[in-house]
Amino acid sequence: MNGFEKIDVKQLPGNIFALFDTNWALITAGEENRWNTMTISWGQAGWLWGRPVVTAYVRKSRYTLGFTEARGCFTISFFDQGSCRAQLGVLGSKSGRDMDKMHESGLTPIMIEGEHAFAEARAVLVCRKVYADWIDPGKFLDPSVFDKSYADREDVHRMYVAEVLSAYVRK
Ligand SMILES: Cc1cc2nc3c(=O)[nH]c(=O)nc-3n(C[C@H](O)[C@H](O)[C@H](O)COP(=O)(O)O)c2cc1C
Repeated sequence: MNGFEKIDVKQLPGNIFALFDTNWALITAGEENRWNTMTISWGQAGWLWGRPVVTAYVRKSRYTLGFTEARGCFTISFFDQGSCRAQLGVLGSKSGRDMDKMHESGLTPIMIEGEHAFAEARAVLVCRKVYADWIDPGKFLDPSVFDKSYADREDVHRMYVAEVLSAYVRK
């Protein structure tokens, strides 16, 4: 149908550390005709509250934030190492405020379970938000980590812990 098949999330291919930091991923959210995506490389996946979860981080300044806030679900699209680097570079440097980057980045939008994702992804997680909070500067046990990641001291991340409802891999 859309070139993806559903798998058990425990069969997700690849190393989660590399999928985020080395390969990069996309977080995508929105309604059918109004949605946005951006590149992410910070995140985790594992088990919490008796369910599989992924945690993603979206800074206050991102256009994507309005979409992840408004919508109960988002997708995480993971890529093969070195795959779609130029497109992920565009999606991670241009804002949806300024261009229709979902259609102009060169990636192919698809729908999975009513959520947006991309045909070139190696795997897609359909996620339902269960917990959200702002990163709190006052709670860093090592303040140098905050200083290094938040030079302006303002543009902190919104943290989303989301249940993985479904996992798909490209056939
Ligand atoms: C490799 C890479 C990783 C990134 N990881 C994150 C991230 O985890 N969280 C975040 O808020 N921004 C991250 N960004 C920055 C956003 O993708 C970038 O600011 C994007 O243009 C925001 O688009 P938007 O304004 O349409 O939301 C990353 C960018 C790149 C290139």
